Amino acid sequence: MSAGTTPPGAANEQEAARWVRDMFGRIAGRYDLLNHLLSFNIDRTWRNRAVERVADIVARPDARVLDTCCGTGDLMLALFEKAKRPVLGSDFCHPMLVEANRKAAASGARTPLFEADSLALPLADASLDLITVAFGFRNFASYDRGMREMLRVLKPGGAALILELSQPKNRLFAPVFAFFSGNVLPWVGGLVSGSPEAYSYLPESVRKFPGAEQLAEQMRRAGFSHVEFERLTLGAVALHLGTK
Ligand SMILES: C[S@@+](CC[C@H](N)C(=O)[O-])C[C@H]1O[C@@H](n2cnc3c(N)ncnc32)[C@H](O)[C@@H]1O
Repeated sequence: MSAGTTPPGAANEQEAARWVRDMFGRIAGRYDLLNHLLSFNIDRTWRNRAVERVADIVARPDARVLDTCCGTGDLMLALFEKAKRPVLGSDFCHPMLVEANRKAAASGARTPLFEADSLALPLADASLDLITVAFGFRNFASYDRGMREMLRVLKPGGAALILELSQPKNRLFAPVFAFFSGNVLPWVGGLVSGSPEAYSYLPESVRKFPGAEQLAEQMRRAGFSHVEFERLTLGAVALHLGTK
């Protein structure tokens, strides 16, 4: 399995992280629009499914929940809707957090935000019941360190959820998806965001990212138990869960 994301020109983990942070900073203002447009709005159902899978945890009155790589906050806000009590959000890209903050304020959500690298969270060991990451994990400079950090901040028995783009297995859908993500997506994304490199990085990073089985195996090797995953939208997305 690859060690982490490898954006163009990045020679080491620090440069990879900086490239990712700067890239999201440039597209923050158009991120939601493009997300909904390029996924035909299906991204909402992916996040809703994620919330459904952890509903029993967020419903607990004392549950401490962090949506890391929260970006503009869609999963964090969906978790808050379910929990009706504070859900933390973190990201290392300031412009994305500004968007998340704006949306949280507009909807009256109680979602304290903090700026932090998900590979080095400013949280005590064993302080969370649930940590989620939606479409952020693939961008980590080190997948292994990302998993170890999730395990560190989780209480024993706590759960990690990773929602991420994947490679469809379906014989008919796979070439359609490959054409869409390799051609349509970079073109439309580049045009609308004004940052073509962001939307050519996206399909490339998905292509290099481990398949759903491999990611589950890596979670087990990192130390998660009860690891399971489900494929959504014919495998275009995979939702992984693991317990500490
Ligand atoms: C594709 S966006 C996903 C945002 C949101 N979770 C969603 O579902 O729309 C990925 C986010 O992950 C953040 N990110 C990537 N690597 C990170 C890291 N190492 N630490 C913190 N945030 C990171 C980026 O800044 C970006 O906001």
